[in-house]
This record gives sequence, structure tokens and C-alpha cells, in this order.
Amino acid sequence: NNMSIIGVPMDLGQNRRGVDMGPSAIRYAGVVERLENLAYHIADLGDVPVSRPDSKDNVQEGNLRNLKQVADSNQQLAKMVTQEIHKNRFPLVLGGDHSIAIGSMAGIAKHYDNPGVIWYDAHGDLNSGDTSPSGNIHGMPLAVSLGIGHEKLTNILDYTPKVKAENIVIIGARSLDPGEKELIREQGITVYSMHEIDRLGMSQVMAKAIDYLKQRTDGVHLSLDLDGLDPDEAPGVGTPVIGGLSYRESHLAMEMLSEADILTSAEFVEVNPILDDQNKTATLAVGLIGSLFGEKLK
Ligand code: ARG
Ligand code: MN
Ligand code: MN
Ligand code: MN
Repeated sequence: NNMSIIGVPMDLGQNRRGVDMGPSAIRYAGVVERLENLAYHIADLGDVPVSRPDSKDNVQEGNLRNLKQVADSNQQLAKMVTQEIHKNRFPLVLGGDHSIAIGSMAGIAKHYDNPGVIWYDAHGDLNSGDTSPSGNIHGMPLAVSLGIGHEKLTNILDYTPKVKAENIVIIGARSLDPGEKELIREQGITVYSMHEIDRLGMSQVMAKAIDYLKQRTDGVHLSLDLDGLDPDEAPGVGTPVIGGLSYRESHLAMEMLSEADILTSAEFVEVNPILDDQNKTATLAVGLIGSLFGEKLK
């Protein structure tokens, strides 16, 4: 029951300042205490350094905003995640914008023959410089993990790809760009969009996702973007999309993952306290973390 918390105060993967304070907001909402109450031995390793862009570096290289700074921090995050897994400690990464999933995946995938990922998000984050409408790297980490994108991002820790398309399950999608839809079709990525969740219910969707990944992978990472939840529940995010997952659907998903005991790493991203309502979104994240790590049973 050893867990390491790694904060990544990254806000350079998108346009709205404030998401760099996400790790502080989640810590302030009591994540360490919450997990210690569940008998986890927590080492809070503090934050990965993120450098500031200067006006020269900020010039976009191939439609990738702040590429150098985002790549550098992800490199450092990947190394830390690898070390913690090596020490048999469960890595829990706190963001920061979703571009940090590039480093998390790079660090994790090294340790498994056939890693899988649950991408809990309103978005697919499957863009590259060629398809991105924004140039924001937080819309690209899942594509990067598939080996699609700039080499500075795809080749972190000197290997690519980090995950196979058939080992990805996206949950909660409701805002996909044309290039992302094409990639999903081409590569046959499993997507439970809001439509499928409405029709089947979260219980059945999670049962299917868990069963599928359990059979074919030897490790599962949860990458949870708080904008997967409805903006009513999670107002403190930079790219909110209406019609999202409810409080209970999300807790149920976490509880089912806890029962299934398939996760080998997790990250919670996109909490932006500047846009939030009295730290509601960070508090929600800590509640979801509580459910994910067995609060119901203890
Ligand atoms: N699809 C849009 C883009 O690529 C939005 C991405 C939002 N991603 C996120 N992690 N919140 O710019
Ligand atoms: Mn900032
Ligand atoms: Mn998102
Ligand atoms: Mn995302």
C-alpha cells in the first residue's frame, strides 16, 4: 500500500492560466489525509519543475505551443514515474493540464508488456500538430502515446509507441475534432461517448471496459480529466463541455475500478482553481480519489 504523489504545475499545454495551481488545490482539499485514512503510505514527492515560456520559445514549432517546456517537464515526470514504479510504489500524478499524460504514460509503459489506459474525458486528446484546431498540447497526449506527433513528445525515454490503440478505452467523450474522429475510426479505438453511457448506463459501460482491459493488458493507467464530468459538478476546468458525466456516475466508475483492482497508476488533471467555485473541483477530485482507493469498503 505504498503510493507516491507527484504534482505537475503545468499550464503551458493550453491557453488559460491558473491550471498550474491544480496540484496545490488538490493538496489543499486534503488528498494526503484522505488516502492515509485508507491505510496508504503516502510519499508526497512535491512538484516537477515547469519552466516559464520566454517570448522566443513561445513561438510555435509545427503548431505546438510551448513545445520545449512541455517536453522538458514531461521528460522529468516520466523519469520520476519510472522510479516510483521500480520501487513498487503506486504513482498518483496531479495536474496541471492534460499534456502531462505524455510523461505519465512514458514512465508507466516501460514497466509493462501490454499496458492499457482508461481515458476519462470530454475530449479524445487525439490531435497532432496537423489536426489540432488550437495548437494546444493538452489536446494531443493520447495521440502522442500512440506514437503520433512531434518526435520531442513521442520519443520521451527513447521508445515509441507507449500504448496500442486496442488497449485504449475512452469514457465520457462529447467533443471530438474531425481529425480525432478519423483516427478513432482508423485505429479502432474503443469509445464510450455520452451517447453510449446514456443508453447502457455507467454500470454496464464500466463493467465492459474493465472486463476488456483485464483480459488483454498487464497494467492499466487511469487518466482522468475533470472536464469529463459535467461543468455543474466541475466548474474549475479550462475547456468545459456541457452534457457531461454526473457526480454519481463518476463515483460509481471509481468504485467499480476499486473493486476490480486493475489499476497500476492514475492521474487527475485540468483542475483550475482560478476558474473554480470555492475549490469545488479539487474537492470533487479528492472525493473521486477516495472512491478509487476503496473508501466504500473501509
Ligand atoms: N480538442 C481541443 C483541442 O485539441 C480541446 C482539447 C482539450 N483537452 C483537454 N485535455 N482539456 O484543442
Ligand atoms: Mn501560471
Ligand atoms: Mn478534456
Ligand atoms: Mn483531456
